[in-house]
Amino acid sequence: MSDWTPSSWNNKTAAQQPRYNDRGLLDAVVSELSERPPLVTSWEVERLKSQLALAAGGKAFLLQGGDCSESFQACRADPIAKKLKVLLQMSLVLVYGMNKPVIRVGRIAGQYAKPRSSDTETRDGVTLPSYRGDCVNRIPFTAEDRENRPELLVEAYSRSAQTLNYLRALAEGGFADIHHPENWELDFVTQSKKSQQYHQIVGGISDSLRFIETIGGVTNGDLSRVDFYTSHEALLLPYEQSMTRQSISGSGWYNLGTHYPWIGDRTRAHDGAHIEYFRGIENPIGLKVGPTASPKDLIDLIETLNPDRQPGRLTLICRFGAQKIQACLPPLIEAVQKVKHPVLWSVDPMHGNTITTDHGIKTRHFDQILSEVRDSFLVHQQHDTIVGGIHLELTGNDVTECIGGAGGLQPTDLARAYESKVDPRLNYEQAMEIAFLIAGQARKPN
Ligand code: PEP
Ligand code: CO
Repeated sequence: MSDWTPSSWNNKTAAQQPRYNDRGLLDAVVSELSERPPLVTSWEVERLKSQLALAAGGKAFLLQGGDCSESFQACRADPIAKKLKVLLQMSLVLVYGMNKPVIRVGRIAGQYAKPRSSDTETRDGVTLPSYRGDCVNRIPFTAEDRENRPELLVEAYSRSAQTLNYLRALAEGGFADIHHPENWELDFVTQSKKSQQYHQIVGGISDSLRFIETIGGVTNGDLSRVDFYTSHEALLLPYEQSMTRQSISGSGWYNLGTHYPWIGDRTRAHDGAHIEYFRGIENPIGLKVGPTASPKDLIDLIETLNPDRQPGRLTLICRFGAQKIQACLPPLIEAVQKVKHPVLWSVDPMHGNTITTDHGIKTRHFDQILSEVRDSFLVHQQHDTIVGGIHLELTGNDVTECIGGAGGLQPTDLARAYESKVDPRLNYEQAMEIAFLIAGQARKPN
């Protein structure tokens, strides 16, 4: 790849980049960040890639989830631990139901930039830059807050590092120990049916562990920790460039700001800057695939992003919407089958199902989300291919952002605890319901 460098994307058109008034300051920030320690290592990145290769072949399952967009303000112990708790509980249900390892990946520790439909926003005749995430500008509608500021990239790096530091400590230490699932309890969950169902599984697992350890006379030390990986949409290319480093161990360039960057549905133009950047890094990568992707678009992208056909390198994160998946997914599966490329098929049942209520609140119908997950399993079963993962927007906070689910949330409940500044997330009960659905699907005979 002699014509690629971490900055060669500059020769292409980069969609969704903020306009900075002070280009000199942006260059200074990128150069400063390039000197900072990386957040992850190439060994971790390669380990994840080999686990994703297993998921592509149906021997593991990818669980990827977190906020639509992290906020700087949420870089606190409590929300971080709660998010990990939900993902650990979901993964336990999935492991138990699917009988295979679960790869846990957060949309976390760097998910600070958002694509927007317009560069600017107008209110009462006043036009200002759109809010593009906490690493670009601030939400309040004033000229000062909405100014795109390069120094926020340094703040994003610091908050990512703090978040990851805490996640690592929790994943490595006693917190994640399967012998102590009580550590993962969420205090606001009391009467939830899903929580009761979950506790039955926990009880069964604890009994089995006790039995194995009694009969074998040993404690399996490996069960006291879990692997936990980070991911974010690699949208702001100057930042991603600054995190791109040559591996210490061998050849090749890695994005060491996250384990698993993905390309958004709006920035996947084949001749665009994002594809140029992504083709040169060694990380496993995700590609969001929406209804506008034709079979030809997809095959061109796959050939460019994974010319060596490395298993685990490329995940297709499909997000068509419940109404469109039956029409959109089959031709794409057939095109990929024809060229025999090893891809991991994942389903994002969130981004094709966003609606706005009569009161102007962005929400998602839980039935639509479930329906897209179910249809994804059905269509893949019909093609003899595998759904190897799920991609969700969720939180461990007790929010009311999506309608429906076992708690029966109504549109009138949305105002009660709506925290997201961007897309609506699943709450605990809704997230667990999806985990149980997938666990159940996996047990269905073919
Ligand atoms: C997202 O994942 O938050 C997002 C913007 O998704 P997409 O690129 O699929 O629209
Ligand atoms: Co989103």
